[in-house]
Amino acid sequence: MSALAFAAERAVAIHAVLAASKVCQRVFTKLVNGETVTKKDKSPVTIADYSAQAVVNTFLNSSFPSDPIVGEEDSKDLRGDAGRLMREKVLELANSGLDTPLTEQSILETIDRGTYGGGAKGRMWALDPIDGTKGFLRGEQFAVCLALIIDGQVQVGVMGCPNLPVDAKNQDGEKGCLFITVKGQGAFQRNFSSTTEVPISMSDIQSLTDASFCESVESGHSNQSEAAKIAQLLGITKAPVRMDSQCKYCSISRGDAEVYLRLPVSATYEEKIWDHASGSLLVAEAGGIVSDVYGRPLDFSHGRTLATNSGVVAAHAKIHAKVIEAVQKVLFPEGKL
Ligand SMILES: *[C@@H]1O[C@H](CO)[C@@H](O)[C@H](O)[C@H]1NC(C)=O
Ligand SMILES: *[C@@H]1O[C@H](CO)[C@@H](O)[C@H](O)[C@H]1NC(C)=O
Ligand SMILES: *[C@@H]1O[C@H](CO)[C@@H](O)[C@H](O)[C@H]1NC(C)=O
Repeated sequence: MSALAFAAERAVAIHAVLAASKVCQRVFTKLVNGETVTKKDKSPVTIADYSAQAVVNTFLNSSFPSDPIVGEEDSKDLRGDAGRLMREKVLELANSGLDTPLTEQSILETIDRGTYGGGAKGRMWALDPIDGTKGFLRGEQFAVCLALIIDGQVQVGVMGCPNLPVDAKNQDGEKGCLFITVKGQGAFQRNFSSTTEVPISMSDIQSLTDASFCESVESGHSNQSEAAKIAQLLGITKAPVRMDSQCKYCSISRGDAEVYLRLPVSATYEEKIWDHASGSLLVAEAGGIVSDVYGRPLDFSHGRTLATNSGVVAAHAKIHAKVIEAVQKVLFPEGKL
């Protein structure tokens, strides 16, 4: 019997995301919770971003040296005299998550392995070292997100959510979950403290009146007043679950909520592929459909952004068409597309 497809990629992605998640937790404990830095200071998140990207890229380089990476960060601000202080902190933190320490020079090269332009052909990894920077600074939800894309199709997705409760019904209980998916192989959750994976699926609700929906905490990321109108049209009465980062994809994939709406706030904003690659596969493998506000599948073959899509609508396959219908009525009342 042959091993499952992408077993090696899956295993490496799990190790990389877990190591990077722990580095982010360490940065939070040391710098955000520390008394020397106020939460208005953005530098902790920047340091965590670079460190997490260095850690993930190092893991990927040692197992898949020829795979390109589409990562959010590049090393520009870490170079030269101006970048020295930041560079030293990033080096220390990244090395805390690695067995073989990087040097000052190799950490810059490793981070810059993430500058690939993307495209429709071949293998590439998409990485968001910290998705949900505002959530990170608030000590709320953020995620380390990694996906393998081949010829424009997401094949593997792993997300680390250090602050997400292992069990949504016990918000004060253990936190830190990893979400893992491979196309055609289902969706799984494990907690940081265990290697046992548990299959997850979206909740199979019979009626939308029992549903709840997820959206961004930041009104600048998704139009909340339009979402409220859509919810009303659908008969959803529960208050929206507001959460930062791709943890929203994880949340609906395990049935904490049923619908995820990300409604465009600007006609020109293009969603980044690393913000949606792993989450969209997770939802699809958990029984859902992910599309843009027009109902079109997310298309990861146009470079670093989802250039041909607008917004995101994710829901259980049984209700997705109904949700799109309501989205259309609210966003395009005259039927214009
Ligand atoms: C990638 O790994 C090779 C060894 O397999 C090493 O020589 C090279 O320096 C690494 N590159 C980066 C950017 O880390
Ligand atoms: C963590 O995962 C293990 C294995 O699935 C499970 O036994 C344990 O209960 C989990 N912890 C919590 C708090 O759910
Ligand atoms: C949200 O949508 C409403 C109605 O279409 C619009 O008036 C408002 O400006 C939008 N808000 C943002 C932040 O885009």
